[in-house]
Amino acid sequence: MRPVLGIESSCDETAAAVLDGEGRILAESVASQEAAHAPYGGVVPEIAARAHLALLPDLVRGVMARAGLAFDALGGVAASAGPGLIGGLIVGSQVAKGIALAHALPYVAVNHLEAHALTARLPGLVPGGAPFPYLLLLVSGGHCQCVAVEGVGRHERLGGTVDDAAGEAFDKVAKLLGLGWPGGPALEQLAADGDAARFAFPRPMLGREGCDFSFSGLKTAVAQEVARHGAGALPRTLAADIAAGFQHAVAEVLADRAQHAMAMIRARATAARLLVVAGGVAANGAVRAALALAAEAAGFALVAPPVRLCTDNAVMVAWAGIERLRLGLADGLDFAPRPRWPLAALAASCHRPADGACAPVPPASGSTD
Ligand code: KG4
Ligand code: ZN
Repeated sequence: MRPVLGIESSCDETAAAVLDGEGRILAESVASQEAAHAPYGGVVPEIAARAHLALLPDLVRGVMARAGLAFDALGGVAASAGPGLIGGLIVGSQVAKGIALAHALPYVAVNHLEAHALTARLPGLVPGGAPFPYLLLLVSGGHCQCVAVEGVGRHERLGGTVDDAAGEAFDKVAKLLGLGWPGGPALEQLAADGDAARFAFPRPMLGREGCDFSFSGLKTAVAQEVARHGAGALPRTLAADIAAGFQHAVAEVLADRAQHAMAMIRARATAARLLVVAGGVAANGAVRAALALAAEAAGFALVAPPVRLCTDNAVMVAWAGIERLRLGLADGLDFAPRPRWPLAALAASCHRPADGACAPVPPASGSTD
C-alpha cells in the first residue's frame, strides 16, 4: 500500500503524520495547544477549533515535505472524525476531505478510540505484531474504559467510568494542590517526593464485579483533606504526601479494574494475552508499574507504547487508516464528524463478525451511521 497521511484534531493536540504502507513512520508532528488553554484551567472548545485551523495546514505541509512526498503519492488520507470536540473534528475532517478530493484519494473517517486501540499493532511495538484479541485500558483526560479489541471495527466495551475519567481526576486534584493544567505530569512529579502511606484515601470500586471505574469519591476525599488545612497554599511536604496518596489510590484502582477486565476477556477468548494501555495517564510511572504487576499476575504481557504514542497523536490515526484501507474500508466525503461515537457503533459497519476483521459494506444510502 502507498503511504497514508493521518490527521488528529479531536481535542487540544493538532497533529499530522505520514506512515508508509507497512506502518513505518516517515514523518510526524504534534503541536500542543496547552499554553493557549492553560489560563482557563482546561480545554476551551472554541479556542481549540481556531488553533487547529491556524496550525493544521503548515503541519500537514511540513510532514509531507519531511516524508519527501507529494499528495499524489499517497494511498489515502485518514482523520479523526470523532468522538471529540466538534469544532476541531470539523477542521481536521475538512482538511482531510479537501486533500482526498483534490487528489482523488480514499478518505478514512477514523474513530479516535479505535486509533488508540489499534496503536499496539504498529510495527515494532510487539514482536510479530499484537494479535487480536487483546485488552485495551484507555485512560486519558476524556476517556476511561476497558475494551476487548477483537478486530478492526470489532470492539466490546467491558466497562468504563461512571463519573470522571482518570486523567480528569488527576487534573482536578492537581488544581486542588495548586498545580497548573494539565495536572497529571506536575502531580506525578510532586508525588515523587511524597509518602503514599500517610493518607488512606478511598479506592472506589476496588474488588467490585466487572471493570467499571469511579473517581469522584476519591477526588472529594482529597478535597476534604485539603480543606482541613485551611485556606492558602499547602506546605510542600503535605501537598506531596497528598499527591502520592492520591496517585497510589488511582494506580491501585486501575490495576484492580484491569485485573477484572483481563479475567473478562479471557472468559470471552482464551487466546487473549496482552494488556495494552493508552491515553495520557499511561505516561504515569506508578500506574504503569501497578499495571505491569497486575498483568504478570494474570499471565498477560503489558504493552505500554512510548508516551508520545499513548497521548493524542496522528501516527495512530494514520495507522488506523492503514488497517481499514487494507480491508477495503473507506468512507464517503459526506461522512459527518461525530462528537459522540462509541466503539460499539463501529460493528454496524462490519459484515463478518466471526473472523476477526471487518469486511467492506456498501455505503448506506442517505445515512452515515
Ligand atoms: O490522552 P491525552 O493526552 O488527552 C486526552 O485527554 O485525550 O491525556 C491527557 C490527560 C490529562 O488529564 C493529563 O493530566 C493526564 O492525561 N496525564 C497524566 C500524566 N501525563 C498526562 N496523568 C498522570 N500522570 C502523568 N504523568
Ligand atoms: Zn485520545
